[in-house]
Amino acid sequence: MLRCRVPMPAVVTLLLLQSAAVVLFLGWYSPLVPQEASPTQGKVHVLLLSSWRSGSSFLGQVFSQHPSVFYLMEPAWHVWMALKRPGARGLRMAVRDLVRSVFQCDLSVMDAYLPPSYNVSHVFMWSHSRALCSPPACPLTPRDSISHEPECKLRCDAVGLEKAERACHTYSHVVLKEVRFFELESLYPLLRDPSLDLRIIHLVRDPRAVLRSREQAVKALEQDSALVLEQNGPLPADAQMRVMREVCRSHVRIHETAARKTPDFLRGRYKLLRYEDLVRNPLGEIEAVYDFVGLEMVETLQEWIYRITHGKGKGTKKDAFKITSRNAEDVSLAWRTTLPFQKVKQIQDVCKGAMSLLGYRAVQSEAEQRQLDVDLTAGRERHHFTWLTSTSTEPGEG
Ligand SMILES: *[C@@H]1O[C@H](CO)[C@@H](O)[C@H](O)[C@H]1NC(C)=O
Repeated sequence: MLRCRVPMPAVVTLLLLQSAAVVLFLGWYSPLVPQEASPTQGKVHVLLLSSWRSGSSFLGQVFSQHPSVFYLMEPAWHVWMALKRPGARGLRMAVRDLVRSVFQCDLSVMDAYLPPSYNVSHVFMWSHSRALCSPPACPLTPRDSISHEPECKLRCDAVGLEKAERACHTYSHVVLKEVRFFELESLYPLLRDPSLDLRIIHLVRDPRAVLRSREQAVKALEQDSALVLEQNGPLPADAQMRVMREVCRSHVRIHETAARKTPDFLRGRYKLLRYEDLVRNPLGEIEAVYDFVGLEMVETLQEWIYRITHGKGKGTKKDAFKITSRNAEDVSLAWRTTLPFQKVKQIQDVCKGAMSLLGYRAVQSEAEQRQLDVDLTAGRERHHFTWLTSTSTEPGEG
């Protein structure tokens, strides 16, 4: 009797509604589960913090050439060049926000800093990014091959940044190299941002070697120096030393924040890397760095790293970008034969704190400076390698 009161169509409708609800529930709910477990969808964001002339071009390429990496070299260059006025400190939040957007593959943020109708070739050092020379950005270089910058520059330009943006979304790692951070505090919101999985690699180099390298590139660094010193008009005569003071202070500030007063959200996300250790044991150090950010070493890269750090090998000239290979360890010692002892004393004084914190030992005499078998990077393990001898420019102009 009761059965007859409920018409068949109503039962069918109810059943359909119920299954629809189940489907909708599962359909909506289940994607939320992996999202909650990993709001970054497994993407890792790596900020390579360095200073000028500290070997960061080399380390940048080590990332750029990796098949899982979308790399950009100093996107904040655009902020500095476009806004200038306020100086380094006044620009840091604009830089921070640009870095955040680029990590999220939103390249529209570049719009503010590029000419009205732009190409990918307007992005600073774009052709040094292997990802911009590979599909889907450009058909030229297979993703697992080493890219050739001059060829990429000729053949991979494109209107707008849509292709670059699409490319960015297809990589597990977005790596940005920046020389324009002097502290970590402005990055805290990025470290706390659940949509980012940020790792910071802090590359430092012996200030005496940096000074020597900077002196060979005074003109190229003029604008940057003016912004660091917040100086309008001609640079003072002691500009080099004053910039070095700022650079060394920033090493101390960053390292102290990260290693001594570590906030919770920074734990396990900061790695200090010394250029000298990198050139002494490139494969070992690079594997450790890859491990830190969750990248696998691949064979083509292993060979490439060996070649570029060991001077002339097969086809080095072509592959080396601006980082021409040569005996990398010799390069890191060049200051000891070429820098006048007077200057060495001066820089040791200016950078005293940073040097002792980072394990660079001061020399007390010219004799000691010139004695190359005295190791001044004390406190770190010394690996012995047979380096091939050759003479070209140094690995790492950045
Ligand atoms: C932009 O790229 C297109 C396509 O490669 C090219 O034809 C054009 O000349 C480029 N424009 C500029 C301003 O470089």
